[in-house]
Amino acid sequence: MSIVYLNGRFLPAEQAFIPVFDRGFIFGDGVYEVLPVYGGRPFRLAHHLERLSQSLAGIGLTAPLGADEWSTIIGELIVRHGGGDQSVYLQITRGAAPRDHAFPAHVEPTVFAYTQPLKENPEEVLGRGVRAVTLDDIRWRRCDIKAIALLANVLLRQEAIQRGAAEAILIRDGAVTEGAASNIFVALRGQLVTAPRGPSILPGITRDLILELAAANGIDFAERRLSQEELRQAEEVWMTSSTKEIMPIVELDGKQVGNGTAGSLFWRMHSLFQDYKRRFREGTAG
Ligand code: PDD
Repeated sequence: MSIVYLNGRFLPAEQAFIPVFDRGFIFGDGVYEVLPVYGGRPFRLAHHLERLSQSLAGIGLTAPLGADEWSTIIGELIVRHGGGDQSVYLQITRGAAPRDHAFPAHVEPTVFAYTQPLKENPEEVLGRGVRAVTLDDIRWRRCDIKAIALLANVLLRQEAIQRGAAEAILIRDGAVTEGAASNIFVALRGQLVTAPRGPSILPGITRDLILELAAANGIDFAERRLSQEELRQAEEVWMTSSTKEIMPIVELDGKQVGNGTAGSLFWRMHSLFQDYKRRFREGTAG
């Protein structure tokens, strides 16, 4: 039976309940984080907690807990689920109050966290890659906030799946923003390119690590506007996230990307990423 954390208590998932007037349920009024855990240690914890602070500030919600408390809750969940590789989900909503769009005066935020096993993608799966389709980015203008209100992302990803693809690459004003649940990178004339930080994308923790690894290893990269036209010309396309790491996209809107398998820049970055993880498991990388 899975043990979850809810408002100060660890308890079986089946016994964890929230009031029907929770603003997360009524309005989608909350934020979340997803953190990978490798070898029993939360990966890039400080980065995830910093982004959580930014998300909370972005919705005008005072952080109910500090970094040490978050880290204790996450650590306890990991231990209770036997360590190893996991994916921890953390959610904070504005709490339960009579329904009114405006913020309630005095209300305790709801804090919920759980964990589930995290599976690594075998190299043959990475080599084969996945399909993606481009779709109009119908989301709001604060995609930098990791909000739980994900209806647009849900509809977009579902449309991708109905079209036989694993992910939707979102296009706004003729440029790539990100995926429905991932950031997007391309290799274009040998250069690694991804959309710049800003309100149109979530500043992915995986994205930032990839850019860090590129900078440290002499891989040419640019954070800049990437037109839909350039996306079509790319030699390689990848999607990145905490749960998928780096996944090659080998078919875009029914057309082959590059030679239709994972490309050479992908394998280079994959190996740098796995090396970094290895050092993290050994305690020599943060
Ligand atoms: N989503 N962009 C969007 C819209 C996302 O939902 C995610 C991740 C990312 C990648 O961010 P990171 O590298 O920090 O995971 C980018 C998570 C995994 C989710 O919603 O489950």
